Amino acid sequence: MLLSEAKELPAMTELTITKPDDFHLHLRQGDLMKQLVPLTAESFARALVMPNLQPPVVSASDLKSYQKDLAAVGSDLQLLMTFKLMPSTTPQMVAELRQAGAVAGKLYPQGVSVNSEDGVTDVEALYSVFDAMQEQNLVLCIHGEMPGVGEMEAETAFLPTLQALHTNFPRLRIVLEHVSTRAGVEMIKSLSATVGATVTVHHLLLTIDDVRHDHHINPHHYCRPVCKSEVDRKILLETVLSGHPQFFFGSDSAPHLKATKEVSTGEPSRGVFSTPVALPLLAQLFEEYDQLSRLEAFVAQLGADFYQLPKNKDSITLQRSPWTVPQEYFGVVPLWAGKTLEWKI
Ligand code: DOR
Ligand code: ZN
Ligand code: ZN
Repeated sequence: MLLSEAKELPAMTELTITKPDDFHLHLRQGDLMKQLVPLTAESFARALVMPNLQPPVVSASDLKSYQKDLAAVGSDLQLLMTFKLMPSTTPQMVAELRQAGAVAGKLYPQGVSVNSEDGVTDVEALYSVFDAMQEQNLVLCIHGEMPGVGEMEAETAFLPTLQALHTNFPRLRIVLEHVSTRAGVEMIKSLSATVGATVTVHHLLLTIDDVRHDHHINPHHYCRPVCKSEVDRKILLETVLSGHPQFFFGSDSAPHLKATKEVSTGEPSRGVFSTPVALPLLAQLFEEYDQLSRLEAFVAQLGADFYQLPKNKDSITLQRSPWTVPQEYFGVVPLWAGKTLEWKI
């Protein structure tokens, strides 16, 4: 884990950038949603909202009703809506979803993630749907892990499927969500600019050693895809710090109540809650590598370009003002809880 100590006395005390976008976010439902929406708006102008609810966002009417619930919370956050691709999704539904304002469709292979038991088993069976998405200029977002493969290998095992999708649908914009491996990074770089990847804060900071130690799991670092080796982490970091245009920020902030995380028996629920710490952590990380000037592109430009959206008009200021991350936000333990961060929004 990084960020243990500051290098030297820094000159900069304030950083103002275009207000960022989060191109992969779980805003949930009910009371949790009501807390998450305004908290997200403190850091982000827009968020691509994931559809893995129970029941999932599948049809145009599901999408409109979820959007209405989110909007009713009342905040400045602009919602970029997504739908979940099911084995039963049709090209006709895609057209209706587009009409209802969808920006992207999300593919979850069966059983690889939270609420994905009803996910896709046969990717090729959906080719007519991908064709419709390509024609409608919708983005295909993919949780790129292969079912039935161990968690350290599942992303790499999925990459041939990604490559085949790009070959068959060269104009379809595809995002490999939360890329976590060297092989994933290399695959994206080898494909054309219609294929990109989101990168999370936790995959830039953590490795498997921060998730599991002997038989102990740190539940607050436990997610899918699991954080990988130091080699993988370093490649992700180098790629992002280099400003590579195919890699942009998506937090995959996925809050779960502490009670379902800190369990005495069974598996903790999977997901890292990073919304309130994401920008301060990224600023600290970019600064550590003398690349603070590239932070804005990663969080506020490259993703917008990929999604063919205008850059946000608002800006946000980070101040160098050390603060201790709270142990909890409304019953959810955030990434970096109890630790000190240099930058504050
Ligand atoms: O760790 C994860 N949590 N990975 C996902 O893909 C989904 C997410 C969630 O919804 O909690
Ligand atoms: Zn995912
Ligand atoms: Zn996610």
